[in-house]
Amino acid sequence: MGKDLTTFFKPKSIAVVGASKDSRKIGHAALKNILISDYECEIYPINPKEKEILGLKCYKKLTDVPRNIDLVLISVPAPIVPQILIDCVKKNVKNVIIISSGFSEAGNHELEEELKKIIAKTNIRVLGPNVMGYKNASDGLDASFVFGNPRKGNVSLISQSGALGIGMIYLANNEFMGVSKIIGVGNKIDIDDDDLIDYFTKDPDTKVIGLYIEGVKDGRAFMNSIKACHKPVLVVKAGRSLAGTRATASHTGSMAGSDEIYDAAIKQAGGIRCRDIVELFDRARALAGQPPAQGNRIGIITNGGGLGILLTDACEANGLIIPKLSNKTYKKIDKILPNLIKPNNPVDLVGDAGFYRYEACTKIMLEDPNIDGVIVASVHGGYARPREFTGAILKMVRERKLHEEHKKPILATWVGGKEFEDLVWDLKSAGVPIYPSSWRTARSMLALYLEGQRIKREQKNS
Ligand code: ACO
Repeated sequence: MGKDLTTFFKPKSIAVVGASKDSRKIGHAALKNILISDYECEIYPINPKEKEILGLKCYKKLTDVPRNIDLVLISVPAPIVPQILIDCVKKNVKNVIIISSGFSEAGNHELEEELKKIIAKTNIRVLGPNVMGYKNASDGLDASFVFGNPRKGNVSLISQSGALGIGMIYLANNEFMGVSKIIGVGNKIDIDDDDLIDYFTKDPDTKVIGLYIEGVKDGRAFMNSIKACHKPVLVVKAGRSLAGTRATASHTGSMAGSDEIYDAAIKQAGGIRCRDIVELFDRARALAGQPPAQGNRIGIITNGGGLGILLTDACEANGLIIPKLSNKTYKKIDKILPNLIKPNNPVDLVGDAGFYRYEACTKIMLEDPNIDGVIVASVHGGYARPREFTGAILKMVRERKLHEEHKKPILATWVGGKEFEDLVWDLKSAGVPIYPSSWRTARSMLALYLEGQRIKREQKNS
């Protein structure tokens, strides 16, 4: 079976079977999303009763369309889907998205088996059933029935849960995380996570891959795809608990399998397992915006001693090291600190730290060969200056582009209130992840370290 998904994500012609004039129907929303996409292609609505929908000529059957079709979206009730799929095969359609629910997830295994039989021994690629479709933000195509578009970026997301995939679109926008593609895979009768990982590893618009999975159909293929992937693969695997395992069976009809086995296999393949969607997003933002860490030695800079200790604990609990400062670095930092305090790691810049102390100390840490990544933290202690804290980080990120020796990740943490919010956006939009939690910061730095390790292994084996 041909694995390439280029015509799936970049079709020249799309048909919607079950297109409707009724704006409450999914087939209407799917057609409209394609129509209003910033993407050029032929569009064919299919509906036996209509002559025209949304200003487009409507065909009674797929086989009436006079041209080739690269992609068909199916939005008709489940019992009709097999016949439509037969028409797709007859018409030599390259790719199909089955939006319709009512298959194995609803206990209707026979109907799902029928679909599998229809596509067996053909080259057709099928997504679903029971899916939202996909949003291809990098090319401007919305092949889903869901309202709203993600910001264009370089994180590609795969979700076995449709609703969670949809939620991720809005969460990504809220977190200022740019998305390349977001796709629901549903019951996975054909297109599976491994096909998508294989596609995204070659996709120039994807830098980071994130997955929400409940179960995989072919464990070996899944692990091989992660192993062969040249990009970081973040995995949220649901169904850790017994009750969670039961829930996955009734959601997408998946067998969750032993959690320990999944955990070990993902790690062994070089993937990074995340606890939940928020952790996946935290880490995706770090991996998309920052260089990987070459080692696990972290420098911490703060204006509040307590936050520095919390960051130290969180880093150490996650296998990162907070090394003592070298003599050279100690002397350099000593010159910029007020007399009342001596340098340490974490470095306490003291509550009134402004732009200069933050900037100078971050630069010194980046130059230190014993430090692989830097966390810069600010507590809004009433007289602290948040704008100067973020300004210093933004300056160092700009300068890092010019200095090879500065190519180390910088993450930020803050504790404060409303006065920080605009500044948080300044950093996020510049690709500097900033988290309101020492734990989330440490977990993201760990992901940057794991990615650094993965790249080293890849280089060694090539
Ligand atoms: N060819 C083309 N069109 C046809 C055919 C056919 N053979 N037969 C019927 N149609 C038309 C219908 O006449 C109708 O058009 P109309 O409005 O002009 O009458 C249209 O296709 C749709 O058919 P309906 O019977 O009206 O079905 P409806 O739109 O109500 O539901 C749907 C279809 C959406 C596929 C539904 O069965 C379903 O599965 N819903 C759930 C979808 C879902 O949630 N998927 C998972 C998403 S991910 C998540 O979790 C959010």
